[in-house]
Amino acid sequence: MASDKAAISPEDRGFYFADGVYEVIKYYKGRSFCFEDHLLRLRNSLDAVRIEFSGLHELRKICDNIMDVNHLKSKHAGIYIQITRGVAPRVHRFPAKDTSPTLYIRAFELPGYPNEMQHGIRVITRMDIRWLRCDVKSIALLPNTLLFQEAAEQNAGECFLIRDGCFTEATHSNIMVVMGGKVYTHPDSNLILPGITRKVVIRICHDLGISIAERPIKTEETDLFKECFITGTGSEIIPVVSIDGRPVADGKAGPVTRKLQNEFFRITYGELAGEDVSYE
Ligand code: PDD
Repeated sequence: MASDKAAISPEDRGFYFADGVYEVIKYYKGRSFCFEDHLLRLRNSLDAVRIEFSGLHELRKICDNIMDVNHLKSKHAGIYIQITRGVAPRVHRFPAKDTSPTLYIRAFELPGYPNEMQHGIRVITRMDIRWLRCDVKSIALLPNTLLFQEAAEQNAGECFLIRDGCFTEATHSNIMVVMGGKVYTHPDSNLILPGITRKVVIRICHDLGISIAERPIKTEETDLFKECFITGTGSEIIPVVSIDGRPVADGKAGPVTRKLQNEFFRITYGELAGEDVSYE
């Protein structure tokens, strides 16, 4: 259905309370990347917020079909899936048991960011003002949007979030840094989203023999960063060339980042989409 014809009730709990969860999945020329991982994370998010949704097993077919009817099978595209607790009068307690969750799925072109991937982005840092269940992919994203807006207003590409003296993640991506030839990223916990791209990059590190450690990265270590990059479904792997106006090492994307980009792009644009891509 055309999105301007779709109707969602103003009494939807997603609208009143941001009472819902979501996923964003990338399709490389009609072929989804890590669909099952996204589905598993969606299940975890639904369980965490106690939304009972019985249609998860049908989602893949529905998403593939939505890609098709939107003529996106020959392009790089994204799928947005949102599930809320459904339509009910505005009272804080959960609605009646028979209230059906609202499912909304949208497909959109998502070609990647070649300029940023090649030249990198500058980032700012701010205090992580989010709740303590950042592992849940909740649609309540006001802290994320407010902080990203600050970055955008300073022509920065992301905002790194700091809690208790450590970088957790960014407003819509995970953070990785290289120090002494080793890649570091915040461990999975309630303080970060368990990024699917992050997981793929960790696997690539193992496959390529690049050492990787999951441990909190202290802000006081910033001067030791030899390389830094962000990972995400939309961002894929984007180098970070300066943090709060201070260059990361020589202010250019480094060799480990390039190696990981090349392998990631070989798997996605190469193997999945059949393209010839190299960022060396
Ligand atoms: N953002 N951390 C946060 C807070 C995120 O919102 C995201 C994704 C990530 C990266 O996760 P993944 O690699 O699974 O995409 C990390 C999505 C894409 C968004 O909100 O648009």
